Amino acid sequence: MNNIILCGFMGCGKTTVGKYLSTLANMKFVDMDKYIEKKADMTVSEIFEKFGEDGFRDMEHKACLELSRSTDYVIASGGGTLVFDRNVEVLSKTGTIVLIDASYETLCNRLKNDKKRPLLQCENRNEKIKELLNKRMPLYKKASAVTVNGDQSSKKVAQEILSKVNSH
Ligand code: S3P
Repeated sequence: MNNIILCGFMGCGKTTVGKYLSTLANMKFVDMDKYIEKKADMTVSEIFEKFGEDGFRDMEHKACLELSRSTDYVIASGGGTLVFDRNVEVLSKTGTIVLIDASYETLCNRLKNDKKRPLLQCENRNEKIKELLNKRMPLYKKASAVTVNGDQSSKKVAQEILSKVNSH
């Protein structure tokens, strides 16, 4: 299957790049968080509040199973999706997993005013980003077949993805 699955930390640009990439590559686009929100008729924050992170992770896994049946899709995963082996297993069979690798500084800057990500609504946001990023980066790298530099414009990131996936 020929899907492109975008992986990386919150704020690395999965959604923005994904939309651009889907136009560029003439593919369809789906954002996993939006897909989950639509099915649950709740926002991600509401899901975390009502069912906890574990409840959200179960919905996320279900979304991976459902979306893995599609073809010709650019799939923007959530920042925690590919940290879980069960999701990597499902999504890696359905296409190429691409890591958008943005620096700690870029991420802190892009996430500084965020109100929608439950994991970042805490006292010291930058510390939390550092802690999660250190823990997750090795897992993102293990899950992905291709890595691109996420510190550039979305347009450039999308172009880099397309050329790397095509020559992969
Ligand atoms: C999460 C990232 C979010 C969303 C949820 C949990 C994470 O997606 O799935 O808030 O664990 O990193 P984005 O990466 O699209 O912000």
